Amino acid sequence: MIVNSRSFMACFGACACALLLASLPARAKVPPLAASVAHGRYLAIIGGCNDCHTAGYAESGGRTPEKKWLEGSAVGWLGPWGTTYPPNLRLFMQAKSLSQWIEFARTARLRPPMPYWSLRTMTVHDLAALYAFIRFLGPDGKPAPAYLPPGESPPGTYVSRVKAGATRVARAHSK
Ligand code: HEC
Repeated sequence: MIVNSRSFMACFGACACALLLASLPARAKVPPLAASVAHGRYLAIIGGCNDCHTAGYAESGGRTPEKKWLEGSAVGWLGPWGTTYPPNLRLFMQAKSLSQWIEFARTARLRPPMPYWSLRTMTVHDLAALYAFIRFLGPDGKPAPAYLPPGESPPGTYVSRVKAGATRVARAHSK
């Protein structure tokens, strides 16, 4: 087939234009879903989210099957702040739109040992990827036990950050 240079240039121009349209900001900013999910999975691992929010994850050397990830944990964290439980993020994320999640991550101050400053440091791109991944996992599991104020003894297993002999002081302060 013979293509003269004028029709080649016209075709080239149309293709370039189509490519330009395809890469308009809206598209450029929202990465394809599969790539987002993969990046979110990576962030959940290296960001340590599973270490606390997935029951038994650390104990299994990170071998908990992905379908059980981020369902929260009934292992409490006891300290001067009371006892906190890593919530079920699979249920948490279902209840939020992407923009509500980004707003939460930018502003929330959470109790120890949740590293909320890590969420604040993440780019919107990373937060959107975590959102895509956790929504991809879908809602599952049950809510983690409720927070207990200082002075209340946690019923189950817990990690204590209270100095030996300081429990009574923490209790006295809560009254
Ligand atoms: C060292 C343990 C630990 C790590 C690591 C951790 N979290 Fe948490 N997270 C917690 C605890 C405990 C709470 C509950 C804090 C509270 O009660 O105020 C929490 C709360 C949250 C909440 C609020 C949920 C709600 O229902 O209000 C979100 C969202 C969250 N974590 C996301 C993450 C993400 C994403 C990562 C990984 C980047 C992560 N966490 C890493 C322990 C942890």
